[in-house]
Amino acid sequence: MPDSILLTGGSGFIGSHIAVEVARAGHRPVVLDNLCNSKAGVIERLARIIGRPIDFVQGDIRDGAVVRKVIRDFGITRVIHLAGLKAVGESMSMPLAYYDNNVVGTLRLLEAMNDCGVRSIVFSSSCTVYGDPQRLPLTESHPLSSANPYGQTKLTIELMLRDLARSDDRWHICLLRYFNPVGAHESGLIGEDPNGIPNNLMPFVLKVAAGQFKELGVWGSDYPTPDGTGVRDYIHVVDLAVGHLRAMERLGDMRCEAINLGTGQGSSVLDVVKAFERVNAVRVPYTLKDRRPGDIAACWADPALALQRLGWKTERTLDDMCRDAWKWQLSSGGS
Ligand code: NAD
Ligand code: UD1
Repeated sequence: MPDSILLTGGSGFIGSHIAVEVARAGHRPVVLDNLCNSKAGVIERLARIIGRPIDFVQGDIRDGAVVRKVIRDFGITRVIHLAGLKAVGESMSMPLAYYDNNVVGTLRLLEAMNDCGVRSIVFSSSCTVYGDPQRLPLTESHPLSSANPYGQTKLTIELMLRDLARSDDRWHICLLRYFNPVGAHESGLIGEDPNGIPNNLMPFVLKVAAGQFKELGVWGSDYPTPDGTGVRDYIHVVDLAVGHLRAMERLGDMRCEAINLGTGQGSSVLDVVKAFERVNAVRVPYTLKDRRPGDIAACWADPALALQRLGWKTERTLDDMCRDAWKWQLSSGGS
């Protein structure tokens, strides 16, 4: 009997890639998404990749009745919880919307799960919970902090989940702290589809390469890094999705554990630009600009715990990320 796995936010960038891996592993992914940052067309494209229709309910995690109904109707046994708002800048101008969607939303979801006797959950956390790194690579024991409401919501949810696990040993919880997910499915059918002008590096590089923007602004060239530009741990979204599958499979052995999902390797902004140009034979004009307020110089993961606890490590390279992201851009027209 396949397990029915609830994917909140499952039509978004990361959730859609997880749906593919969950289905490929023989489980039944059930997507609950209010489509505030994704489109229903993703569900049809998922069906093309998977080769069969996918269960989708349009609804909000803050609506406990809807969540309970989905859990009961589909016989859900485990939850991968991705639904939430994720734009740092927007969180600074709309903090209440972020606390409501992310923190209250998670609270309602957990209440509904508890009511239905489903107490296994993988949560989408972020390396943003480490704040400005005191030492690199970042291990899970690094002190936690956050400088913006988005990060605060992730920290608050982590604390809430830890308290829950302490209160009742029937809960099995994994907090996955992602580094910088980029790339797309190799089919070119699903990928990241940000609204408006992208804030993040890879989506902006795609728009410049496609000629939709004249040039990339490189935010800061005087960081204490090898080429002066910011360094991050970019991880292919399919590797990230496989990491969720491994975490879900090991939930039974966990009470509440935080695990980094990253490659363990840092790449600078210029490393990304050069790799992208080389792999795709396109030009990405750029100009060096001032630092972006709030940015850190460098950040990369120690992924040892993920290998030890999940038997997982990344397989895809920065070249793969650039190639698959470009394939998605070309096939979607950056829709
Ligand atoms: P995304 O915006 O593409 O996906 C999130 C999905 O959740 C969207 O489809 C949106 O419509 C849905 N959603 C939002 N609020 C909802 C609600 N109240 N009820 C139901 N659905 C709702 O984002 P993503 O990049 O796929 O990120 C997924 C998760 O991973 C988020 O929680 C995000 O904070 C976290 N995360 C993302 C990154 C990243 O760089 N992309 C890094 C670290 C952590
Ligand atoms: C983003 C999130 C952070 C999250 C992290 C991992 C923001 C502000 N922060 O940060 O909360 O934890 O992803 O997913 O969104 N850059 C440019 N030009 C651009 C865009 C970016 O030079 O047009 C540089 C940045 O200065 C940085 C690097 O590229 O050095 C990566 O930036 P970005 O993709 O926004 O990710 P993070 O800054 O790591």
